[in-house]
Amino acid sequence: MIPVNEPLLGERETEYIAECLQTGWISSAGRFIEEFEQKWAEYCGMQYGIAVCNGTTALQVAVGCLDLQPGDEVIMPSFTIISCALPVVERGAIPVLVDCDPLTWCMDVSQIEAKITARTRAIMPVHIYGHPVDMDPVLDLAKRYNLVVIEDAAEVHGAEYLRHANGAAPVWQRCGGMGHISTFSFYANKLITTGEGGMLLTSDPVYAEKARSLRNLCFRPERRFYHTELGYNYRMTNMQAALGLAQLERFDQILAKKRWMGAAYTERLKDISCLQLPVEKEWARQVYWMYGLVLAENTGMDAVSFAKKLEARGVQTRPFFLGMHEQPVFWERGLFKDEHYPVAERMARQGLYLPSGLALTEAQLEQVCEVVKGVLS
Ligand SMILES: Cc1ncc(COP(=O)(O)O)c(C=O)c1O
Repeated sequence: MIPVNEPLLGERETEYIAECLQTGWISSAGRFIEEFEQKWAEYCGMQYGIAVCNGTTALQVAVGCLDLQPGDEVIMPSFTIISCALPVVERGAIPVLVDCDPLTWCMDVSQIEAKITARTRAIMPVHIYGHPVDMDPVLDLAKRYNLVVIEDAAEVHGAEYLRHANGAAPVWQRCGGMGHISTFSFYANKLITTGEGGMLLTSDPVYAEKARSLRNLCFRPERRFYHTELGYNYRMTNMQAALGLAQLERFDQILAKKRWMGAAYTERLKDISCLQLPVEKEWARQVYWMYGLVLAENTGMDAVSFAKKLEARGVQTRPFFLGMHEQPVFWERGLFKDEHYPVAERMARQGLYLPSGLALTEAQLEQVCEVVKGVLS
């Protein structure tokens, strides 16, 4: 079976982990944490990095920085993982959904303004499967309506967006470097992985301090074990940071491998008319976190039946997200009843992604494409 993801770890990781073990720095103190935070923030063009234990907790801390009140609203795509909606709902606030763009699969930014109300506090653009959200309209709206932007960059390490700010010359900016706060996951299938892990980035010292405090149980610096706020233990360990730092040192190679993989799949699958492949808009440099496919209905198959046939021939896949408005757990809370987002619904029905891990070899990629062609012929 060709796995949907297999990480590729190197000697540097072994060396840094050995250092943790030999020196005894195995908890959330140690040199690798600060170095990883600082270097990742710098790479993305932000000032502060706050490492946490996964991407979901990064979003919980990011939303925690906003002091949301019950009934406040956060605009986000329906087509995303539950980690985005969860921290909003937890605080009694309301995720307000928009559909996704049929080509980039990211939030349809033309639908945002109509969803802004007096209760809107934030917009949460989520870059999907390696492709950036069209950020100019998001950032312009946020400025105009005084909203906070929490950029979920879990799936786009190293992706770039051509930003046109206020009539200035366009500049390429890294994803995770454009919002007021951005969040990352370093789960084992991400471009940089710490096994489990995550990070928030911000250039705002107030958010940075608040995030550090929320990550560490809101201990007060002047008096330990005395609390005026509720926080969490979401700390990352030095060993996790060691893995992240080792990969950051060779991140150019990681990016090159992903872009090679994207181009190689596209080259081999582009003539299959019943498949929609990932795009790269002229304003985007995408990183192919996962190589997605959307299958035409005229094949008589949905993604579930397509996946079964691929698996029977030795190719593992994963289905696309099921939109937030199709989640029973939210219906039970009175959210999203009778809401429809037709593009997200179609993506959920017809979309899946192919093996896309960093350890994928050219021979495996060839075989995946042969199997896909075989099933569709
Ligand atoms: C867009 C997005 N946000 C958040 C997360 C949550 O990250 P984690 O699995 O590290 O909690 C993921 C996970 O893949 C994700 O894809």
